[in-house]
Amino acid sequence: MFKDDARKKDVKTPTIVKEVWHNGEFIAWDDARVHVMSHVLHYGSSVFEGIRCYKTGRGPAVFRLREHMQRLLNSAKIYRMEHEWALDELTDAVVQLVARGGLQQCYIRPIIFRSLDEARPAFGVNPFPNPLSCYIGAWDWGKYLGDAAIEQGVDVCVSSWNRLSPNSMPAMAKAGANYMNSQLIKMEAITNGYVEGIALDDRGFVSEGSGENIFLVHDGKVVTPPLSSSILPGITRDSVIQICRELEIPLVESGIQRAALYVADELFFTGTAAEVTPIRSVDRIQVGQGRRGPVTERIQKLFFEITAGERPAPGPWLTYVNEYKPAAPDANGHRAAAAPAPEARKAVSAGDPNDAIHVTLTE
Ligand SMILES: Cc1ncc(COP(=O)(O)O)c(C=O)c1O
Repeated sequence: MFKDDARKKDVKTPTIVKEVWHNGEFIAWDDARVHVMSHVLHYGSSVFEGIRCYKTGRGPAVFRLREHMQRLLNSAKIYRMEHEWALDELTDAVVQLVARGGLQQCYIRPIIFRSLDEARPAFGVNPFPNPLSCYIGAWDWGKYLGDAAIEQGVDVCVSSWNRLSPNSMPAMAKAGANYMNSQLIKMEAITNGYVEGIALDDRGFVSEGSGENIFLVHDGKVVTPPLSSSILPGITRDSVIQICRELEIPLVESGIQRAALYVADELFFTGTAAEVTPIRSVDRIQVGQGRRGPVTERIQKLFFEITAGERPAPGPWLTYVNEYKPAAPDANGHRAAAAPAPEARKAVSAGDPNDAIHVTLTE
C-alpha cells in the first residue's frame, strides 16, 4: 500500500545542542525529563514555539525572536497559564542557549507546559493545581519538507480533516494539543503518498497546512487566508506579507475556496520549519507550470537574503547572537525592549511593521 520508509522518514537532525534551558538554568540534555503522570502528557496542556537561527556573515542570527516569544506568551495567556517568565528573560535565554551550543544555525524549541508536583500530585483535567515548567532546546534541522522542495515544490492534498473551529480549539494559540489535528492531516497525507496536507476550515474555506500557512498567486496578486480561517498567525506569513509590500506585489487576506487551489498560478507554504516552499500539485492536479513560479521565487529570494543577513529586513528581524546585549533591568527588575538590531529600518510602505502580527489578530 505504501512504503514504510516514507512514513518513518524525518527531517535530518545533524546536531543537538547538549544543554537545555530550564526555568532560568542550563541543564544537560539528558536531564531534561518529565514524570509520565505529568498533566501535559494526558491532556495536551502545552504551548510552544519554533524559531530558526540562521548562519550569517556576522555569526548566528535568530529570526524574529521577540515576535516568537510574544506569541508564546500570548498562547500561554489564552490557556490561563499564570507564570513569571518575562519576554526579555526568554529572549535572553534563547540567545544564551545558541551561544553556548556553538551552532551557526539551528531550530529553537521553547515550551511551557503543565507538569506534576510529585509532593502534591493532581491527576484531573483541571490544570490549575499543576505547576508550570518552561524549557528551551535547540538542534540543527534540515529542510522540513525535503531538500529538493525549496526549488522544485511539493505534492500535497486537501485533507479530509478540517482545521480546528475557532470555538473549539483556538488556532491562534500555538498549543501542543492543536497538533493532534495536525498529525491527522499529516498522517493522512503521507499515507496517501503526499508530502503535506492542506486543511479546510469548518466552513469549507482553505485554512493552512499541518504546520504551515498557505499563499496563492493569481494574476500577479498574492492571496492568503485571514486569521478567521482558523490559522496560526504565522511569523513567516507576516514576514512574507511585509516582503510583498517591499516588492510592491499586491496582497490581500481573503477567504479561499478549495477549487481556487487547483486553478491558481502559483501556491506556496510558509513556516519557520518550511520557510517558503512552493507547492507544485494539489490532489494530483498540477499547479501552474508544476514548479516554483516567478512570484514565489522573488519572495523566496528576498526571504533567504534577509535571513542570511545579506539584505536589510523591513524591521529588526535578526538578533545577532554574538552582538546581543541584554536590556538592563529597571528598579522593579523589569527590562525595557532591547534596542533594535542595526540593520533595522522602516518598511517602504505604510504601517508599522512591528504591528503586523497584532493587526492580523483583529481580522
Ligand atoms: C499549524 C501551523 N500553521 C502555521 C505555521 C507557520 O508559523 P510560523 O511562520 O510562525 O512558523 C506553523 C508553524 O509553526 C504551524 O504549526
